[in-house]
Amino acid sequence: MNKRLKKIAGSISRGSVIVDIGSDHAYLLKYLFDEGIIDKSYATEIARGPYEICKKNLEPYNAQVFLTDGLQGFNEKVDTAVIAGMGGFTIIDIIKKSINKFRNINSIIIQPMQNIYELRVWLFDNNFRIVKEHYIFENKYYCILEIENGKSEEYDFLLGSNNVVCDEHYIAYLQNELRLRKNLKKKVPDVKKKQLADEINRINIRINSLK
Ligand SMILES: C[S@@+](CC[C@H](N)C(=O)[O-])C[C@H]1O[C@@H](n2cnc3c(N)ncnc32)[C@H](O)[C@@H]1O
Repeated sequence: MNKRLKKIAGSISRGSVIVDIGSDHAYLLKYLFDEGIIDKSYATEIARGPYEICKKNLEPYNAQVFLTDGLQGFNEKVDTAVIAGMGGFTIIDIIKKSINKFRNINSIIIQPMQNIYELRVWLFDNNFRIVKEHYIFENKYYCILEIENGKSEEYDFLLGSNNVVCDEHYIAYLQNELRLRKNLKKKVPDVKKKQLADEINRINIRINSLK
């Protein structure tokens, strides 16, 4: 199991019933079953190939697999939903299409691969509050957001929520954001340079405040 999925597993409460959306090989669920953290789960997959693999890998366990887009047509009662290893816009799309179901799930764990800024904005505008935000560094940084239904206090969408874990992984994430902007600044027109300079300043202030 890679560090990223292990970190996600760490966010799952013992004994909870979970649905892993876009489960692929079901590595996360297999690990949770094998470690005795869960004893019942669901998985969904949009693509036939991964669905078949997922089903096969979960055969020995108390799990049911659905071939569907996100939670469409899924009506089981769960405590936790996981949406990991997908782009921010795909995650938004999955939640949007079944928003009433997500409103009835206590804990939603998401791990976007890109567009974290846009995802934070969408979550804020749609009353999903980030109760824990943490990072793991494994060749690149990964962000894991634990969210719940409810209005959030305002926060800087660039730097992360008020509930971010300020450890060395978060600093690595901020340093990466800084590097990306410094490189981009050399290539863009003046009007965009100003915006990037402002963002670089905000990120620098944040990093310095954590030293
Ligand atoms: C890169 S894999 C990530 C697998 C696993 N969640 C992880 O984090 O390692 C993304 C998986 O999500 C599935 N997927 C993408 N969009 C989906 C959707 N709307 N509903 C269900 N599954 C989806 C893909 O078919 C693929 O198997």
